[in-house]
Formats: sequence, C-alpha cells, structure tokens
Amino acid sequence: MGFKEQIDVNRLPKHIAIIMDGNGRWAKNQGKMRIFGHEQGVLSVKDIVEGCVDVGIEFLTLYAFSTENWHRPKEEVDALMQILISTINKETETLNKNKVKLNAIGDIESLPQECIDDLNEAMGKTAHNTKCTLTLALSYSAKWEILAATKKIAQSVKENTLQVDQITEELFASKLTTVNIPDPELMIRTSGEHRISNYLLWQMAYTEFYFTDVLWPDFRRKDLFEAIVDYQKRERRFGKISEQLN
Ligand code: IPE
Ligand code: IPE
Ligand code: MG
Repeated sequence: MGFKEQIDVNRLPKHIAIIMDGNGRWAKNQGKMRIFGHEQGVLSVKDIVEGCVDVGIEFLTLYAFSTENWHRPKEEVDALMQILISTINKETETLNKNKVKLNAIGDIESLPQECIDDLNEAMGKTAHNTKCTLTLALSYSAKWEILAATKKIAQSVKENTLQVDQITEELFASKLTTVNIPDPELMIRTSGEHRISNYLLWQMAYTEFYFTDVLWPDFRRKDLFEAIVDYQKRERRFGKISEQLN
C-alpha cells in the first residue's frame, strides 16, 4: 500500500509547516550552481501544494526566505527574489485552478518593490479561494514577529486602550502575522538538519516535528504523505497521560 492510501483522512493535520532546506547542497552534489537548486526547488513547491490539495490539508506554510538569509551573497539573494517573482506570476492561475489562497508572512516591506507588488496582486487574485491557504514566510523570523507583537501590545497599554491583565495567549496570538491561521500540527524539515532556524517559535509550541534527509528539490508528495502517515502514528498527549485521551 502506498503512503497516500495509508493516510486517515479523518485525522489529517489542518496545518503543515515546512522548512524547505537543501537546495544548495542538492545543486552542489551535481556540480551545479546553488541557484540551480533553488530553481529545481520550485518544482517541489508545486508538487507539495498540489499534494496538500489532493489529500485535503487546509493550511500549508512554507519557509521560503528567512531574515537571516539576507546575509547570503548578493547574487544568491537577487536570484532568490527573481525566482520568487517569476514563480508568483507563473503560478497564480494554477493556484486558482486548485482553489488555493496565497498569503505571506514576514517583513514583507523589506522585499524588493516588484516582489511586493506581484505578491499583492497574486494575493488579491486568489483571495476568494477556500480549499487551502498557502502562506509563504518571506523575510520572516519568529523573533522579529514576537518582538513586533510585543511592541504593538506595549503601545496599546501605553495608550490605555489595553489593560495588562487583558494580555492573554489569544490576544498575543492575534498580534502575530499568523492571525487566523491555526498552529501547525506538523512541521517538516528536509535535508537532515535538526533545527528550527527561527521559524514559528510561538506557533510550534506543541507541533510534531518530522525530519528527513531528503533534499528539498527531491521532496515530492509521496514524501509528504509519508510524513503525514508518520504523524498519524504519534500520540499527542499535551501534557496528559495516555489513559486520559479518548
Ligand atoms: C533552502 O535551501 C532554501 C533557502 C534557504 C532559501 P538552502 O539554500 O538553505 O540549501 P543548503 O541548506 O545550503 O543546501
Ligand atoms: C532556513 O534554512 C530558512 C529557509 C528554509 C528559508 P537555512 O538553510 O537558511 O537555515 P540554517 O542557516 O541552516 O539554519
Ligand atoms: Mg539551508
């Protein structure tokens, strides 16, 4: 039986977050430039989005560019921005065909203007879709996001529009960029690295982690389905004991 057939559709994670890693090493393994790995990585993105639509995952969040990635060589950063722009433009129609709504989180204003414009256009054109929300984390870092939320809350307290005892988990979460998106039940990182690299720190407090050695350009929907099957074998206890769960 294939992995897809092993998935219990009644116990799907609602939200899968992915750290797409290993593009550079994948290219290097074939004696190619790192940028070639990023271009090939786009094919994986397409397949994974369709895989999510195929099985009924409602939220998919992809770490596409971290705040720290700005420190890469300029040629690589420029190439990544170009790949982002051309992919958004080429794929909007397919997103609509698959009823996927595009969303973006991160310090979007720090992106090149062309990127911002194309993102806004694609988000507008796909805003009516309800099958799956695809969120791209761009110029994103969780510490940046948590600090930004903290500053907003502090400002409201200072202006007396919010009382300190009104600061609850729900209130805090509503100030994060992921407002209206449930916390991910499953986080996948490719390429054999076992870290979260400043990704969704608040949101992943109780997320199940899945690490695979597969490099991102080789990651396809069968690998995604394998991760979902693995996730479904786990018992999520949230601090309780086994016997307390139904
Ligand atoms: C992930 O692949 C893509 C981005 C971080 C933009 P990498 O570019 O990190 O590839 P490796 O980890 O160097 O192989
Ligand atoms: C994390 O990958 C960021 C993205 C996938 C966009 P990196 O390759 O940048 O992370 P580190 O440097 O290995 O932690
Ligand atoms: Mg990497």
